[in-house]
Amino acid sequence: MMREFQVLGLVGLVLFVACKPDPEPEPLPAVYDPTPFNVDIRHFPEPDWPEDNPLTEAGVELGRMLFHEKQLSGDNTQACADCHAQQRNFSDVAVFSVGIAGEEGGRHSMVLSNLAWHVHHGGTHGHGFFWDGRASSLREQVLQPIQDDLEMDEDLEDVLVKLAGVREYRDQFMMAFGTEAVTTERLAMALEQFLLTMVSNRSRYDAWLLGEVEFTESELRGYDLFFDEFDPFNPEVSGADCAHCHSGLDFTSHQFVNNGLDAEPDMSDVGYMAVTEQEMDKGKFKVPSLRNVMVSAPYMHDGRFFDMDEVLDHYDHGAVASPSMDPMMQYNVDYGLGLTAQDRADLVAFMHTLTDPEFLADPAFSSPH
Ligand code: HEC
Ligand code: HEC
Repeated sequence: MMREFQVLGLVGLVLFVACKPDPEPEPLPAVYDPTPFNVDIRHFPEPDWPEDNPLTEAGVELGRMLFHEKQLSGDNTQACADCHAQQRNFSDVAVFSVGIAGEEGGRHSMVLSNLAWHVHHGGTHGHGFFWDGRASSLREQVLQPIQDDLEMDEDLEDVLVKLAGVREYRDQFMMAFGTEAVTTERLAMALEQFLLTMVSNRSRYDAWLLGEVEFTESELRGYDLFFDEFDPFNPEVSGADCAHCHSGLDFTSHQFVNNGLDAEPDMSDVGYMAVTEQEMDKGKFKVPSLRNVMVSAPYMHDGRFFDMDEVLDHYDHGAVASPSMDPMMQYNVDYGLGLTAQDRADLVAFMHTLTDPEFLADPAFSSPH
């Protein structure tokens, strides 16, 4: 009996010693750390980085924390990432994203890659953020969803108070900006830094451009169809002319264009016209990048097309004329591109080469929480 108690006592002592929590180590005070963040732009041209917001390791990390932070929303349930899912090139599977109030916004979420090349540099046409280009910088853009009552519906003042109450955020603001102060400007600058690092340039298409892989016959045909102009009098060499608008390394001309989705009376969303107040801009929307396009359905500013097949129906013969429709779209209305089943399969094969699995799964962009 005695022995048993002794054994039990010993076991108890061992357990007690093993479970005794270590004394909390005093966290080291955070210090300002302006180590520059290096974005690997590879074969892309150098974009104009914002001079007044140089990218730093600590600033980008803060931006990443904020992008995945549900406390940016009114009831602490919604983060940017909830409408911008990484594996979908940061867009949303929902046609219209649902905000915290359970109400739908009127537009489909947008893809977020290579935004460093979308920054507006003055002038009246081209570049800018949102489907209608109403924000000219990311710093300006990021504050809108937080305050939008159909999205995160929160007052910036409340966000600042919430974040300032969290030790990790105070430390991260210190490391990124030199003091613990949590301000709207710093919040926007950190999100801007993070969004600027989201570069998708490691697709099969990039490998092909760099001579590292060969395209299949179908991919090559799709490439030609995508880039060649449409010529109704010469069907042998005629292409689908997608690159007229989806041009360059990011597959966007950075213009606002009406690609013939609706006839004039049906344009419930006037798009770019809301920004310029010019009738000729009615129904124009930002030409979206087609990087990772095969993973980002549904498509268009109102998510009206469920899949690529529906998109190709539109461009083949489904466009609707209106005064502001781009003249390049005329053949997509009357004549029809006349794409064969093979043409369509080849275009899709080519668009698959724009998928960048490394980017879509890159832990640098995923939630740190
Ligand atoms: C409720 C869903 C929702 C949430 C939450 C949300 N977004 Fe968006 N985002 C959208 C929609 C919808 C659009 C397009 C809106 C428009 O054009 O009017 C958009 C557009 C954008 C764009 C413009 C991209 C371009 O190419 O022009 C950026 C950048 C962006 N969001 C970043 C963010 C950030 C950063 C946050 C968090 C602070 C955020 N979003 C939160 C739905 C959301
Ligand atoms: C005249 C310019 C123009 C041409 C030509 C053009 N597009 Fe577009 N494309 C646009 C615009 C503008 C949008 C966005 C329209 C909107 O949402 O209102 C768009 C949207 C898209 C989308 C949806 C992307 C997303 O994120 O929602 C796909 C896919 C697409 N185009 C593929 C193509 C293909 C394939 C071709 C060639 C067959 C083509 N485009 C030719 C201007 C053009």
